[in-house]
Amino acid sequence: MLQIGVLNQESDNESRVALVPAGVKKLKALSVDVLVESGAGLRAGFADADYSAAGAMIVPDASAVHACDVILAVRQPSVARIARFRAGAALIGLLSPLADQALVDALINSNVSGLAMELVPRITRAQSMDALSSQGNIAGYKAVLLAAAVSPRIFPMLMTAAGTLQPTKLFVIGAGVAGLQAISTAKRLGAVVSAYDVRPAVKEQVQSVGARFIELPIDTADAQDKGGYAKAQSEETLVRQRALMAKTIAESDVVISTALVPGKPAPKLVPADAVAQMKIGSVIVDLAAERGGNCELTQPGQTIDHNGVTIIGIENLAGTVPLHASQVYSSNVVNLLSVMIDKQGAFKIDTADEIIKAVLVCHNGQLVNEMVAGTLPAVSVETGLQKSE
Ligand code: NAI
Repeated sequence: MLQIGVLNQESDNESRVALVPAGVKKLKALSVDVLVESGAGLRAGFADADYSAAGAMIVPDASAVHACDVILAVRQPSVARIARFRAGAALIGLLSPLADQALVDALINSNVSGLAMELVPRITRAQSMDALSSQGNIAGYKAVLLAAAVSPRIFPMLMTAAGTLQPTKLFVIGAGVAGLQAISTAKRLGAVVSAYDVRPAVKEQVQSVGARFIELPIDTADAQDKGGYAKAQSEETLVRQRALMAKTIAESDVVISTALVPGKPAPKLVPADAVAQMKIGSVIVDLAAERGGNCELTQPGQTIDHNGVTIIGIENLAGTVPLHASQVYSSNVVNLLSVMIDKQGAFKIDTADEIIKAVLVCHNGQLVNEMVAGTLPAVSVETGLQKSE
C-alpha cells in the first residue's frame, strides 16, 4: 500500500504541519497508509492521539517517514534530511525552488521528485490547492494585528467625553492575496485604509474591500504577466514609484508592504528617506522580508526601531498562526494528492496534467521545470547539469 509520511518540522524551525487529522481521514479514504512522525502537529494544536484517531500510524522518529513513497512537508526540509529519503520518493511542500539552488541539487542527487506548492498555477481547477493564497490570507491578517499591537494609536475613530481620537491611517503596498486581506482586516478594526498596486486590474478589488486606491501617474498597463503576477519593473519606474508614494507613506501611521514579483528579490519601494518623513510611532510591517523586504531598512527576521519608526521584518508570518495555517495548507496538499492517487490507491506523477507539470521541479534525477531552470543561475532543464557559464 502507498505510504504517505508527515514530517515533524520542529528542527526546521516550523510550527505548521503539512497534514492535519481531518486530512488524514481524507487520505485514508483513498486507500493509502499515513505515517506521522510523533509530535508533528503538536505546535499547531494537534496531538498524536488526534492523528491516531483519524487513522494515522504514529512513528517515533523521522526514519520511517524518510522511507515513505510520498513525504509531506510545509517548508523545504534540510539538504541533510533529503539525503535520507529513498530514491524515487516524492516530496510535496513549499520548497522555495526559485530561490534555493541547494534544495534543487539535493533533490536531483537523491533522485527525489520535488513538487513545490508555491508553483500551483493560478487557474480555477487549482484554486483549492493554492497554498500561496491560503498562507497569504493568514499572513495579511496577522500583519495588521502585529501593527495594531505595537502602534501607540488605536485603529478606529473614537468620540468620547474625553475628546475625539482620530483613526489610524494605514497604507497597503501590493494588493494581492495578502494585501487584500490586510485591507479587510484593517477596515474591520476601523482604520482608514488606502492601497497601491502596480497591476491596474487591482484597483476595483481594492475599492470593493473598502479602501481608497492611490493613483500614481506611472504607465503600468503592461505590469501583469499572463499568469496574473506582477512583472518586475524597470529601475527607472521604481525610482518614480518611490518618489510618488513617499507623500502617502509620510502621511500614514502604518504601512503594510506585500509587493512581490515571482522569482525575484522584493522590489525596494520604501527608501530610508521616506521612512525619515514618517511620524514618530509609525509602524511598517514588511511582509516581503523573506525576499529581502520592500523597505530599504528592513532587517529580515527582526523588528527594529529606526528613529521612532518600528519596522517589523518578521518572516514566515503564516507560521505564527499555525493551527489555521496548517488546516488550510493541509487541505491544499490533500486536494493536490487527490489528482495524483487513483481509486486503487496508486500514486502517479502525470506530467500531462497542467497542474502537475507546473508544480513538478525534479523528477527521475533531473530538473524538469522550465520556470525554475529559467530562474536559478546554475542549472539547466532536463539535464540537471551545471550550465557552462
Ligand atoms: P504576490 O505575492 O506575487 O505579490 C503581491 C502583490 O504585489 C501583487 O498584487 C503584485 O501585483 C504586487 N506588486 C509587485 N510589484 C509591485 C510594485 N512595484 N508596486 C506595488 N505592488 C507591486 O501576488 P499574489 O498575492 O500571490 O497574487 C498574484 C496574482 O494571482 C493576483 O492577480 C491574484 O489575484 C492572482 N490570484 C489568482 C488566483 C486564481 O485565479 N486561482 C488565486 C490567487 C491569486
